[in-house]
Amino acid sequence: MKKIAFIGGGTMGTALASAACRGNDPQDVVVTDIVREKAQKLAADLGCAAVDTNSQAVEAAKYVVFCVKPQFLDSVLREVKDTFAACAARGEKKVIVSIVAGIEAAHYVEMLELEGKPVSVIRTLPNTACLIGKGFILIEQGDTFTDEEEAEFRELLKEAGGFDSLPASMFTAGCVLTSTSPAFIAMFANSLADAGVYNGLLRPQARKLALQGILCATQLFLSSDRHLEAYKDDVCSPAGPAMIGVKSLEDSGFRSSVINAVVDAYKRFAEMKNVK
Ligand SMILES: NC(=O)c1ccc[n+]([C@@H]2O[C@H](COP(=O)([O-])OP(=O)(O)OC[C@H]3O[C@@H](n4cnc5c(N)ncnc54)[C@H](OP(=O)(O)O)[C@@H]3O)[C@@H](O)[C@H]2O)c1
Repeated sequence: MKKIAFIGGGTMGTALASAACRGNDPQDVVVTDIVREKAQKLAADLGCAAVDTNSQAVEAAKYVVFCVKPQFLDSVLREVKDTFAACAARGEKKVIVSIVAGIEAAHYVEMLELEGKPVSVIRTLPNTACLIGKGFILIEQGDTFTDEEEAEFRELLKEAGGFDSLPASMFTAGCVLTSTSPAFIAMFANSLADAGVYNGLLRPQARKLALQGILCATQLFLSSDRHLEAYKDDVCSPAGPAMIGVKSLEDSGFRSSVINAVVDAYKRFAEMKNVK
C-alpha cells in the first residue's frame, strides 16, 4: 500500500506531490488526474506512481488528498464513493485530506456516506510555495482525525514547509491570509518592479531588487514580535523619500485597499461550499 495519493495534478496537486516525494520514498506516492497524460508526466518527473482513475488512487493509499477545484469535488466524491465503501467494509482505514477551499470535513463524510465508518478527515489549506518547500499548511483543529494521524500527515508533507493548526472558528481567517497573499504580493512586487523600470532599471534588475526588498524585510519582520509599523518608522526619516512614498500610498488608500481585499476574500471563502 502507498502512503499518500493525490487526486488532481494541477497547481496544488503538483506542489504537494513534489513535497511528498522529496520527504518520502517516491514509491510511496501516487498521483492521478482527469487528464491521464498529465498524471503520467508528473509521476515521471517525480519518480512516483501514476494511476488511471481516482478510484485506483483511493485503493492505493492510506492518505487521500483531494486536489480538485471546489466545483469538481462532488463529482469526484460520487465517483470514488463505492471504493471508499469497499475499503471501509474491509476495515481499511482511510484518511481523507481536504485542501479544497471552503469545504468542511463533514461534507466528505456526508457525500461518501461514511458516517460511523473507519475514516478520518483532515481539513487543511496549503499554499503554492509548498512546491519549493517554503509553503505553509494550515490544519483545522477538530475531532475528525487523531493526533497520530495529524503527526503522520505532517511527517508525510514535512518537505512542503511549515505547519500550524487553528480552531475551526479561526480557520478561514487564517486560510485567507496564507493562501491569498501570494496573489497580492505578486501584484505588489510587480508594481515595485514597474516603478523601478520607470526610474531607469532594466526589468530583470527591477524584478530581482523588488523581490529582494520584500524578502529582506520579511525575514527581518519574522525575527521578532515588534509591531510591523515600527519597521516602517525605522525607514522613514524626516521629509525623507520613504515618508513621502508612505504619504503617496495613503493618498491612494493603500491600507484600506489591502484590508478590503482580505475582507472580500474572506466572504468568498464562506461562499465556496455552495460553488457547485
Ligand atoms: N491554487 C492555490 O493557491 C490553492 C491554495 C490552497 C488550496 N487550493 C485548493 O486546491 C484545489 C486545487 O486547486 P488548483 O489550483 O491546484 O487547481 P488546478 O490547477 O485546476 O488543479 C486541479 C487538477 O484537477 C484536475 N481535475 C479536474 N477534474 C478532475 C477529476 N474529475 N478527477 C481528477 N482530476 C481532475 C484538473 O484537470 P483539468 O485542468 O484538465 O481540469 C487539474 O489538473 C482547489 O480546491 C483549491 O481550493 C488552491
